[in-house]
Amino acid sequence: MKEWDEFTKITSAKGVWLTDSKGNKMIDAVASMWCNVWGHSNPQLVRTIQNQSKKLQHSSMFNLTNEPAEKLAESLVRISPGMYKVFYSDNGSSAMEISLKFALQYWKNIGSKKKTKIATVENGYHGDTFGAMSVGYVPEFFGKFKQQLFSTIQFPVPNKYRTPKGYTVSDYQNHCLERIEKRFAKRDDIAAFVMESGAQMAGGVIIYPKRFQKKISQLCKKYDVLFVLDEIATGFGRLGSMVQYEEQQSKPDIVAYGKMLTGGYMTMAATLANKKIYDSFLGEFNEWRHLFHGHTYTGNPIAAAVAYENLKMYKKNNLINKVQKTSKIFESFYDKISEIDIVGDIRHKGMLMGIELVRDKSKKTPISSKKSINKIFFEEGKKNGIYLRTLGNIVMLVPPLAISESELDSLLNRAISTIQSAKPMVTRI
Ligand SMILES: Cc1ncc(COP(=O)(O)O)c(C=O)c1O
Repeated sequence: MKEWDEFTKITSAKGVWLTDSKGNKMIDAVASMWCNVWGHSNPQLVRTIQNQSKKLQHSSMFNLTNEPAEKLAESLVRISPGMYKVFYSDNGSSAMEISLKFALQYWKNIGSKKKTKIATVENGYHGDTFGAMSVGYVPEFFGKFKQQLFSTIQFPVPNKYRTPKGYTVSDYQNHCLERIEKRFAKRDDIAAFVMESGAQMAGGVIIYPKRFQKKISQLCKKYDVLFVLDEIATGFGRLGSMVQYEEQQSKPDIVAYGKMLTGGYMTMAATLANKKIYDSFLGEFNEWRHLFHGHTYTGNPIAAAVAYENLKMYKKNNLINKVQKTSKIFESFYDKISEIDIVGDIRHKGMLMGIELVRDKSKKTPISSKKSINKIFFEEGKKNGIYLRTLGNIVMLVPPLAISESELDSLLNRAISTIQSAKPMVTRI
C-alpha cells in the first residue's frame, strides 16, 4: 500500500476501454479481473439489469425462489454434462467453500467416516477465504495464515517450461499421475480431489498437458474419490470452450463457476453437483442431512437475470467459435514476443496468455525488482494505454472474450511496448 500513493480512478468504460478521472484511456487487458465477456457498457446487458431492477431487486432464497434464478439454474444444468442441481453464491471463493462442504458432507451423509481428507495440486488457486486458501495454497499469498489452514495432500503439476532435471515432459506427467495413484491406492481416506479445470491461473498460467485432467478424473472414479473442478476462471470460453471439463474429457462430481457467469456485470457464482451428491442431502428433517449454508445475496435476481442473458448471448453470437478464431491473433504474435530478450516462455490457450519473464533465458532466472513488479508494469502499461496486472514474473493477458481482432492486435502491441519499457527496471537489482 505504501508504494501506491495514488490510485487511478476509473470513471467510465466502454467496450474494451477503461477511462480514468483524468481522461486517460487504457485497454482492459485483464477483463476487469478475468470476468468481462462483451466489453463494458454492453446495451443488452445494461438493459437487462435495468429491467430486472424495476421488478425485483432482491428477495431471499431461504424458503423462496425467484424466476431469473430458476431460469439460470436450468440453463447451467443444460450446458454442464453430468450436473443436476445448482447452489448459488456471490463470489468464486464462496463457490469453492460450498464445493468443499458438498464433498465433505456427502461422505458423512452416506455414513462413511473415513473419507475426510482433501487432495489438491501444488500452486492451485481457489480464492481467499480460509477453505479456499487451504485447498489452493499459494505460499507467497497465504504463508502468513499457514498455521490456521487445514492440511491437504498436494501433488505436483507438470509445467513444460520448468520440468525437473532428469525427466522428459511426458515422463514427468506420468510421474505426477503415478504419485496420485499410489496415494489413492495406499489409504482410503480421501474425500475429494480439487483442482482448477484446464489450467492453473493465479499459480502461474500453467496449462495442463493433454490427458492430465482426464487421467485424474479416471483415477478418482477408480478409487472412489469425488472429483471437484474449479472452472471459475477457465470456463465460459476463457480457454476456448464453454465448459472446459468437457473439452478435457473429465467427469467432475462438483463444479464451480463464477467470474464470466454474469458477463462481468454483477457478482455471482454457482456450485453445481451431480445427482449422486444431491441425493445424499435428501432426507427427513430430523436426519440432518441438509446443507447449512446460505448467503444473504444467494440467487440475487438482478445477477441471475444478467447471467441468463449473458448465456443467451453466448449462443446467439456463437461466441465460442469467435473466441477460437480471435485466439489465432495471439498465435501470430508468438515470434514477436519471444524475440524480446527477457521473455522465457509463452503459454497460451484460447483467450489467455501468460508471458514468463526471466533475466537469463538459459538459467530461467525470474526477473526481479525491489519495487513491486506488478506496480512497475501497471505504470508502464498505463503510459502505453493498457491496463495490465502481472503475477510475479508473469505478464497475464486476459482480455474480454468478445474483443475484436484489431483490438487484440493493438492490445498485444501495447503489451510488447510495456515489457520493453519495463525491462530496465526489472533486470537491475
Ligand atoms: C480459479 C479461481 N478460483 C476461485 C477464484 C476466487 O474467485 P473470487 O475472487 O470471485 O472469490 C479465483 C479468482 O481469481 C480463481 O481464479
